[in-house]
Amino acid sequence: MTAPMIRLVNVSKVYNSAAGRVVALAGVSLEVAAGEFVALMGPSGCGKSTLLHLVAAVDFPTSGEVWVDGQHLGRLTDAALSRFRRDRVGIVYQFYNLLPTLSAWENVALPAILAGGSPGEARARALEWLRRVDLAQRAEHWPHELSGGEMQRIAVARALVNRPPVLLADEPTGNLDSVAGRDLLRLLAELNIERRVTILLATHSGDAATAAGRVLQLKDGAFMASTATPVPR
Ligand SMILES: Nc1ncnc2c1ncn2[C@@H]1O[C@H](COP(=O)(O)OP(=O)(O)OP(=O)(O)O)[C@@H](O)[C@H]1O
Ligand SMILES: [Mg+2]
Repeated sequence: MTAPMIRLVNVSKVYNSAAGRVVALAGVSLEVAAGEFVALMGPSGCGKSTLLHLVAAVDFPTSGEVWVDGQHLGRLTDAALSRFRRDRVGIVYQFYNLLPTLSAWENVALPAILAGGSPGEARARALEWLRRVDLAQRAEHWPHELSGGEMQRIAVARALVNRPPVLLADEPTGNLDSVAGRDLLRLLAELNIERRVTILLATHSGDAATAAGRVLQLKDGAFMASTATPVPR
């Protein structure tokens, strides 16, 4: 059996702030196979974003292990962590996070340039991605000239421009109307199959969860049912 793309082993995350101690994740274990599309559902505050942040290596667990693409994130050097964040995971948030002073294609090209690509090659790849998300005609537009759905499709293109094996999406449809939301989910489902990108999607929406091959329910920082075995698609 091939190693899972994402593996959490007994992961806890405790926040200690001035306001008190919050257990965001309480001993969570999870395996996501390469090429799976998994939705994380559960009420506000149950730990969905926290889990995504740990997989993205933008935060670290209080205890337990997080493995992504064969790497134990807690054991990486700072330089390896920077490379991991740049090349191995793409992230899409609820609020578009496009840089307002860059055009659509420049936003998509930026991660490719940061990864050391030549400006010409980065531009070509960005334009190719804009075609893939049906926004070639918006390449020179500024973010403020785009609809919410368009900005989210551009955010997906930007997240995938360096061809990471993992895409993390935190409520990507939370700010869209139902038509734009469905379009975005269809795009994610297509990319999951077409590019074999492994997707972990946090959502409140049952509709959004139907795009996924497997749905996990989180409550108070723990999974509600056993989730050790990926469901074959
Ligand atoms: N930096 C932090 N410091 C202290 N507590 C935090 C911090 N980040 C998150 N929390 C707490 O951890 C818990 C889990 O938060 P998280 O953001 O993961 O929930 P969520 O499931 O994504 O919720 P939502 O659906 O509202 O986005 C919450 O109780 C939250 O208040
Ligand atoms: Mg959240």
